[in-house]
Amino acid sequence: MSRKFHGHWSSRLGFVLAATGSAVGLGNIWKFPYMTGQSGGAAFVLVYLLCVTFIGVPILVAEWMLGRRGQRNPVHTMARLARQHGHGRQWALVGGMGVLAAFLILSFYSVIGGWALAYIGKAALGGFDGLDKLAIAGDFERFLARPMDLLRWHTLFMALTVGVVALGVSTGIERASRLMMPALALILLVLVGYGMSTGSFLAGLRFLFAPDWSRLDAQVLLAALGHAFFTLSLGMGVMMAYGSYLGREVDLLRTARTVVFLDTLFALCAGMAIFPIVFAHGLDPASGPGLVFVTLPLAFGHMAGGVPVGTLFFLLLGFAALTSSISLLEPVVELLEERTPLGRATATVTAGLGSWALGIAALLSFSLWSGVRLFDLNIFDLLDYVTSKLMLPLAGLGAIVFVAWKLDQRGVRAELGLGRPGFALWLLVARFIAPLGVVFVFWSNL
Ligand code: PFF
Repeated sequence: MSRKFHGHWSSRLGFVLAATGSAVGLGNIWKFPYMTGQSGGAAFVLVYLLCVTFIGVPILVAEWMLGRRGQRNPVHTMARLARQHGHGRQWALVGGMGVLAAFLILSFYSVIGGWALAYIGKAALGGFDGLDKLAIAGDFERFLARPMDLLRWHTLFMALTVGVVALGVSTGIERASRLMMPALALILLVLVGYGMSTGSFLAGLRFLFAPDWSRLDAQVLLAALGHAFFTLSLGMGVMMAYGSYLGREVDLLRTARTVVFLDTLFALCAGMAIFPIVFAHGLDPASGPGLVFVTLPLAFGHMAGGVPVGTLFFLLLGFAALTSSISLLEPVVELLEERTPLGRATATVTAGLGSWALGIAALLSFSLWSGVRLFDLNIFDLLDYVTSKLMLPLAGLGAIVFVAWKLDQRGVRAELGLGRPGFALWLLVARFIAPLGVVFVFWSNL
């Protein structure tokens, strides 16, 4: 089949913003703070920093490198590179698993993105004013139990995602990221500023940065490593797809450091915005997934300026989710666009519709289908489990192993622009540390 026109990032900055947009999402603003809360704060943060540095950066570089060399969707990029280097076709599975994971994740990611959109309105209308914890938790539970409401918001979120992606790589994704990323940073700064004014900023900082080593166990390690994967959008063909639109001139290692730094900064700032508010109101930092949809609204309903601060917070969450969801759709669209007669717009709508339909099954697991279970997990949790615990580590592992063991290392060294000592370190990390770390997580998850 002939290959059609392939988009390109218009500049390095545009690429950095798009990749950071993919990385910064619900994982940073929703998951990272609640995981930190549950895992005892700074001990988790420290382990997480080690994981993103020694496992995240090399795998990110590996995925971009593969994408840039292959210049195709992840499946055919892997098939092509494997052929060029005399390896078997089974390497295409690494790309295939990634694209499938992206498609599956998008389905439930869009459901949660929809919650964020719904809560923007709730916060703006003062919907949390004066409510107590029971009322707010009850409100959230009732919201989850109303499938038509969830469906409406899920549909809106998916439509926004499809709208951006359909416009193309540089004219859609890149342009949206250029607009939304600075807005995100600004909103987050305002919220951190608010955190400073609560009188509990130091308590928040201590929680995030003063480690309690007694909390460190295998579970924390595992959670940190798993989250490093999720937050950097690794193992889903997303970064590989983004790499396929990348020019030769971009320095991969330097760019990976920038993206990882920004992603971590967003997560830490989200923590610095959230925990002071939590502590100022004597709330529990370890309340889990409900932290931003129950605990925070409780605080918004009882503080001065709760309406603007709450509205900004959910705007932040919604925007962050959107810049990530567009990246989840892209690899699927790239595959369809290159391998079927569909044009960009039709390919995007087709992929979006498929993921949207699956999302309906996911959102029904909070109500009508709560009894539909496999391995004791409902559909929503099953999708999350299969993708983040099984597919991502495997696909990420495949990418790093291929780059570190199957490519000609002289070419890799030249592409990374490393001197002798730098390259020795790269080999140590890429060949051993990163793959072993991933195998360890994967194994323990099973
Ligand atoms: N990295 C995003 C987050 O932290 O929310 C989530 C995500 C986006 C995961 C894209 C995977 C992906 F391919």
